[in-house]
Amino acid sequence: MARTFPEKPSCAVIAGSGWGGYSGGDTEKVILFSDLHPSLHTGIPGHQGIFRFVRLEDTIFLFVEGRVHLYEGYGLSEVLIPLTFAYLLGVRIVVLTSASGSLSPFLSPGSVLVLSDQIDWTFIPDFLPRAQFDESLQEIALSCARRFNLEAIRGVYVGVLGPSFETAAEIRMLGYFGGHAVGMSTVKEAKWATALGLKVLGLSLVTNWGTGLSSSSLTHEEVLSLAGLKKPVLHAFLRDLIVEVLHEDCRES
Ligand code: HPA
Repeated sequence: MARTFPEKPSCAVIAGSGWGGYSGGDTEKVILFSDLHPSLHTGIPGHQGIFRFVRLEDTIFLFVEGRVHLYEGYGLSEVLIPLTFAYLLGVRIVVLTSASGSLSPFLSPGSVLVLSDQIDWTFIPDFLPRAQFDESLQEIALSCARRFNLEAIRGVYVGVLGPSFETAAEIRMLGYFGGHAVGMSTVKEAKWATALGLKVLGLSLVTNWGTGLSSSSLTHEEVLSLAGLKKPVLHAFLRDLIVEVLHEDCRES
């Protein structure tokens, strides 16, 4: 059956924990992951697998919610399907969002890490090139965050397989190795997006201190709870960010 889509989106946002449920703009079309691939669905709270074509001012962007993870037992090719779909639709810029735990006393929960680099600590071979994060997109993200009084710093994201949170010793090690925050997504997508020639921006909401950096013990619910509190400001930030990113893209093309 032939499908019809609204006009071509040039930017896709892949929503991680805390970034979903974007309510700015008008949703013009929704496609379920399971429409593209019967095995793609996710049972993680806070994740539902859909592609939304969202009209924002005079453009359309793609908002992808409910990415699937390696820790759910999906293979690399399945984890990368949403990004591949976005690419096939003509997307040139991808914003990879996530939640993460802080590895540094200087990055407190509620802040956003703007990825300048990453460490792939998943131990899943992939034969993909190294990820590259676009510097001008990082600048745009930092200046947008300042306007919303959102604490944001540039730094290194460490991607682990999960699903369990790290031990205190692992958190110390990842910090010594140069990481600023640790999460369970993004690293493979960033490599694949780079391989596809996309401009990549990585944003990670720091939802908690890594184990051992605070006295409370960590749960997935705690991550979702801080993410929920931050949602309104994150969405306002995302809206401005997308508008600016799309204008920048128009100027360049
Ligand atoms: N570790 C790994 N992934 C995460 C964390 C964490 O502390 N917080 C949110 N996602």
